[in-house]
Amino acid sequence: MDGLDTNDEDGATPLDPNELGGLKFKHITKRGELDHLEQANIQQGLDWLARKKGIDILSEQFIKELHLKLFGEVWCWAGKFRTTERNIGIDPLQISVQLRLLLDDVKFWIENKTYPPLEIAARFHHRLVFIHPFPNGNGRHARIMTDILLTRILDHEPVNWSGGYNSQKMSEQRSNYIDALKSADQNDIQPLIDYIEKD
Ligand SMILES: Nc1ncnc2c1ncn2[C@@H]1O[C@H](COP(=O)(O)OP(=O)(O)OP(=O)(O)O)[C@@H](O)[C@H]1O
Ligand SMILES: [Mg+2]
Repeated sequence: MDGLDTNDEDGATPLDPNELGGLKFKHITKRGELDHLEQANIQQGLDWLARKKGIDILSEQFIKELHLKLFGEVWCWAGKFRTTERNIGIDPLQISVQLRLLLDDVKFWIENKTYPPLEIAARFHHRLVFIHPFPNGNGRHARIMTDILLTRILDHEPVNWSGGYNSQKMSEQRSNYIDALKSADQNDIQPLIDYIEKD
């Protein structure tokens, strides 16, 4: 495991050594190898998602199931909420409760048309990554969740996320995305709406 630097990306969650122990491929030593395995797993998850109809997207069960399908071949803890503190994210003991509040809010916003679709998507995306339910993969999982919300519930186009779902690599777009999330942390959601509306 030496040499696997998981702490070199702006806005990414550093992995806990215990969680690195949850890697299903013990021979991995390079970040690029891990990225590759994760990317293949995510593609399988997306294929599963494309076939799956009639899902209750706005439920804790589906949120966990999707994470499992996206990362379950690579990480033992995929689909399970984190139990340790992070530099990003709330107290792990609060995850279920805060997620329930978020899902109830989103259902309310949809039913009452409280905000336009892109604003609902931006607010959902930010709150989901702010909660940071999982040990890792929160950004990729939340970008996919946001697209399912837009396309399957809000009858809207998906977001053109820069670099697809796998935007771990630093780029100008990536720092715009992280900056927009930081504005949302300060209760200004507009930059994130602008970000997902771009193109
Ligand atoms: N200040 C912040 N406020 C809210 N969310 C943030 C902030 N900084 C980063 N994030 C979110 O956390 C994600 C990184 O978390 P994590 O490493 O669990 O996800 P990932 O899918 O592995 O990474 P990536 O998004 O880089 O592909 C970012 O993509 C972003 O969505
Ligand atoms: Mg990460």
